[in-house]
Amino acid sequence: MTARGPVIAIDGPAASGKGTIGRALARHFGFAHLDTGAIYRAVGHAVRMAGDDPADPAAAEAAARALTPGQLDDPALRGEAAGAAASVVAAIPGVRAALLDFQRDFAAHPPGGAPGAVLDGRDIGTVVCPDADLKLFVTAAAETRARRRHLELSRRGDRVTEADVLADIRARDARDAGRTAAPMVRAGDARLLDTTEMDIDSAVAEAIRLTEDALRAR
Ligand code: DC
Repeated sequence: MTARGPVIAIDGPAASGKGTIGRALARHFGFAHLDTGAIYRAVGHAVRMAGDDPADPAAAEAAARALTPGQLDDPALRGEAAGAAASVVAAIPGVRAALLDFQRDFAAHPPGGAPGAVLDGRDIGTVVCPDADLKLFVTAAAETRARRRHLELSRRGDRVTEADVLADIRARDARDAGRTAAPMVRAGDARLLDTTEMDIDSAVAEAIRLTEDALRAR
């Protein structure tokens, strides 16, 4: 018997479907959900809006320490510019350290008295919640992810080409996996969910099945 409620850790590259799976799991089990990418996006966006360089450690760390939950709802965070800035600030160790307590606290004490928590990001299973009840590593081929993200951006009225989205995804993968501070890597005990050939409903159904198994094993 564990004292804290169940924690589900979902990691994976940009546009792999981890956010959609995370939200669906949280809804299904009544857990709280934290999209940790939004935290890094909010920091990257704040640095840009202040006219500073996201690669400047002092500016980025100050923005990370000043972050408030209210900043996470800004629709501008979903755009490609915020995503690219997020990936840059996320490579700065001081930024990651400043955001760690917020994420761990969410997992240990889910808001609204929820009985469990789902966190999705890049280092949840490896660094933020290494003792999670279930770790999923959600991935898909870069071309598939670019197609999905392009569709999503086009629907929002963003005029970008699929080739540009693919180039951005490849650059982001390389930066997220290649950095020294908490690089994106599949935890040794994470279950792999490759969604290249899966539609989102099948991916969610598989994630629900794995979560049910993990909850039974607690
Ligand atoms: O999941 P996303 O695309 O919203 O994440 C945006 C960026 O934030 C991503 O390129 C890397 C960074 N990130 C991270 O380093 N660690 C996390 N736990 C989540 C996101």
